[in-house]
Amino acid sequence: MRRTGAPLLAGLLVLASSAAAGPEPARGKALAEARQCGACHGADGVAQTAGVPSLAAMPGQVVVLQLILMREKLRQVPAMAPFAEGLTDAEIEDLGAWFESLPPGLPADRAPVDATKLAAGAALSQKGRCGICHLPDYRGREQMPRLAGQREDYLRQALTQFRDSQRIGTDTQMTGLLHGYSDADLAALAHYMAHRDGGS
Ligand code: HEC
Ligand code: HEC
Repeated sequence: MRRTGAPLLAGLLVLASSAAAGPEPARGKALAEARQCGACHGADGVAQTAGVPSLAAMPGQVVVLQLILMREKLRQVPAMAPFAEGLTDAEIEDLGAWFESLPPGLPADRAPVDATKLAAGAALSQKGRCGICHLPDYRGREQMPRLAGQREDYLRQALTQFRDSQRIGTDTQMTGLLHGYSDADLAALAHYMAHRDGGS
């Protein structure tokens, strides 16, 4: 016992220090609770409030990138400003790990399927090849947000902001892609994405 105790303890210390260096969902959870992110984004990361995106199952990199953009006031969201302010990079990574770990869910007020809109949205997403970046089931990856099951009002607003060059991301990909889309096109795309399951 005494002979194996020391290496075991050393091994645990290495584990503990590597965990402290990397993103840690449990720390992200505690911080999200302390900063009351759930008041708007939902305690389980599924937003029940119009205009607020769900963060459950969002790729961690999206959460990290968007929080940095908001902290640096590159993406201007007045509602978020006091909550993004002062977060350290390490805290932001913990938050990313926490939201990514949550299972996806659907808002309680999701509109029933409108078959015409859904078909139009399906055709537009094929044409726009949205699945190439956001993945064919729209669960997102790396810095490309999850769209499946997202709030329809939020998706519509985000798409309109990109098209009208009101939301400046890390690059201009989305703005370029949506050039020439009508309001009805964007509404159909939002409806379609809101009704994808994406692994949920
Ligand atoms: C007062 C309500 C409110 C609170 C509290 C709040 N948020 Fe937000 N958050 C919003 C709104 C509204 C948006 C989207 C705004 C827009 O794009 O117009 C947003 C957007 C985001 C996004 C971008 C998601 C995406 O898909 O682009 C992230 C990430 C985020 N919030 C994380 C957090 C975290 C982490 C906290 C807690 C530290 C938090 N928010 C607290 C309202 C809030
Ligand atoms: C070339 C890759 C690419 C393609 C194709 C693409 N997107 Fe995106 N999309 C992105 C990236 C990257 C972001 C994050 C932009 C940023 O803020 O930096 C994004 C962001 C978004 C957002 C914002 C989501 C949020 O949570 O804030 C929506 C909505 C969206 N895309 C919808 C679409 C739709 C609909 C299509 C097809 C018409 C599409 N995208 C095609 C790369 C792509």
